[in-house]
Amino acid sequence: MALLGHGNVGKAFARLLRNKRSIYPFPIVEIHTAKHGSAFNPKGLGVEPKFGDPAATVAEFLERAQPSVVIEITTLNPESGEPAISHIRAAFSRKAHVITANKGPIAHAYAELREEAQRASVEFRFESTVMDGTPGRSQRDA
Ligand SMILES: NC(=O)c1ccc[n+]([C@@H]2O[C@H](COP(=O)([O-])OP(=O)(O)OC[C@H]3O[C@@H](n4cnc5c(N)ncnc54)[C@H](OP(=O)(O)O)[C@@H]3O)[C@@H](O)[C@H]2O)c1
Repeated sequence: MALLGHGNVGKAFARLLRNKRSIYPFPIVEIHTAKHGSAFNPKGLGVEPKFGDPAATVAEFLERAQPSVVIEITTLNPESGEPAISHIRAAFSRKAHVITANKGPIAHAYAELREEAQRASVEFRFESTVMDGTPGRSQRDA
């Protein structure tokens, strides 16, 4: 997996994945941020990765890690949905599945992105865009 964004959601996701690694043994091999640079380890990054120089472009970032799954969790841009829409398209063009918690691409480009995912034969998942912190029914009833 590769993470685009490593803020509240990215860090929490990395911790959760680490805690549940016996069930979900999927390494995060690369992380790209806006100001903190990029981190890369083909064997898997820890929960406190060391960041170095940023990849020049998202295409270069994806080329290096060649992830199967891209998690798009960069800052919401409610005006245009960018650059997250372009990030998702770059992932589809590399035949990577995409999961996003970013509402921008769904609000501005859902229909197009869904079709592009279908053409690329990859999954496009976005359930986390809406109320993901709210306990589900099974958790409430427990
Ligand atoms: N927080 C929540 O509870 C929640 C719940 C549901 C959905 N969401 C959505 O999930 C997304 C992430 O939320 P968050 O709270 O984790 O945000 P955040 O703490 O502000 O983190 C955003 C991350 O995105 C990176 N970033 C911003 N622009 C970028 C770019 N152009 N290229 C690469 N990286 C970029 C930032 O880099 P730097 O670290 O260098 O600044 C940072 O690591 C948002 O779209 C938000 O609306 C959040």
